[in-house]
Amino acid sequence: LDVLMDTWNFFYTCLVSLWLHRIYIYSVMAFGISLWIAIQFFSTKAKRKDENSNGNLVSSEAVEGKLVNGYATLQPKEVYVAGVKIFYGSQTGTAKRFAQDLAEAVTCLNLPVEVINMGNYDPDDCLAEETISRNICVFLVATYTDGQPTESAAWFCKWLEETANDFRFGKTYLKGLRYAVFGLGNSVYVDHYNTVGRNIDRWLWMLSARRIMTRVEGDCNVVQSKHGSIEADFEAWKSKFLSCLQALCRGEKKPCSGKCKKGKCKSQGKQSKESSNHERGAPEFENTEAEELFETTSEEEADAEEAGGTDSVVDVEDLGKIMSHMKKAKRERELEDGDAGMSLLGETSGRKETGERREMITAALRDALTKQGEVLKLLMELPVLPLVRAYQNSLSRAVCFIVLGEESKAMQCISA
Ligand SMILES: Cc1cc2nc3c(=O)[nH]c(=O)nc-3n(C[C@H](O)[C@H](O)[C@H](O)COP(=O)(O)O)c2cc1C
Repeated sequence: LDVLMDTWNFFYTCLVSLWLHRIYIYSVMAFGISLWIAIQFFSTKAKRKDENSNGNLVSSEAVEGKLVNGYATLQPKEVYVAGVKIFYGSQTGTAKRFAQDLAEAVTCLNLPVEVINMGNYDPDDCLAEETISRNICVFLVATYTDGQPTESAAWFCKWLEETANDFRFGKTYLKGLRYAVFGLGNSVYVDHYNTVGRNIDRWLWMLSARRIMTRVEGDCNVVQSKHGSIEADFEAWKSKFLSCLQALCRGEKKPCSGKCKKGKCKSQGKQSKESSNHERGAPEFENTEAEELFETTSEEEADAEEAGGTDSVVDVEDLGKIMSHMKKAKRERELEDGDAGMSLLGETSGRKETGERREMITAALRDALTKQGEVLKLLMELPVLPLVRAYQNSLSRAVCFIVLGEESKAMQCISA
């Protein structure tokens, strides 16, 4: 029993002391809980940080993945000029030398370049490819006796001339081909000065190839040559060509010189003027050099001609188009006449009538309405107001029926 009592006393004392020191116990517990909370807080924060960093890694990978995918789907940077092909037709080597010189300059622009002897090139097989190749084709061509091309360029010129004049090829056969021409000649040969360069330029243009800059004619005649020699002429042309080429590479389109009326470049006019000037003995460079660089195709100029010109020769193929234009104009005129008839009635329906509806007013109906309108006008001048009102009503009804397309009922109203 004593043992029991002692044990009980011991527990009792402990409990009492605990109770007495409960404040410390609470404090320790509170401290412990706070510590636990703090530990939990920091550990979760650290965890989150880890997760975030891991997550970032994942998301950045995803982004990279997306980018990779993005790159896969992105359009490749547009290539405006894939390369330059320099065609030369030479007999004594000048054009060939110029071609090589130009090739070196083009290479400096980091563009692929190919120098082609026209004698080794079959236009029948290859030239059409240049319409989609994004290449710039340069023609350095010499003219020989009687305006003939060199032996090497003979087939090219023959083919091009025939193609340009052969309706089976169509006038857009070389659409998309971009080119520039530098002719080599001697103005001593007055009647055939630079004929080959001019012809090639014209034939390409006729087939809707795009001239990237005005043709220039180099002159071996130092007296007439604009720059004093054909070499200097070529150098001047070359620097213009290179700046034009750089602009094209940047995707810039050479602006029109501003000498064009209604979008129609005067290149052809200029060229014919060149010829006539030349016939008069004037140096051609005065014309060609004065022009700014500009692009044209025969197709564009033909479009401009169609839009603004009236005295052009009409192709039989275009007759259908012209006929439909004429029909449309006639219909519009008829509608205008119809409007005039309606205005006599002094009525405005306030509704925008379609062309189809207006066609319901046939010539007979228009005549009838016009007459009735005139009668109405006369009646208005007389002091018979009720009669005029009745008349006006019947005409209004007639107009309503016309709008609804009921021609016979409209006629009935008018005759009533
Ligand atoms: C025999 C002969 C005939 C020529 N006939 C013409 C001609 O009719 N029209 C012309 O503009 N140039 C004519 N020329 C000038 C050449 O076109 C010019 O010298 C050109 O630079 C030659 O180029 P190439 O060395 O590349 O053959 C003729 C030259 C020679 C030698």
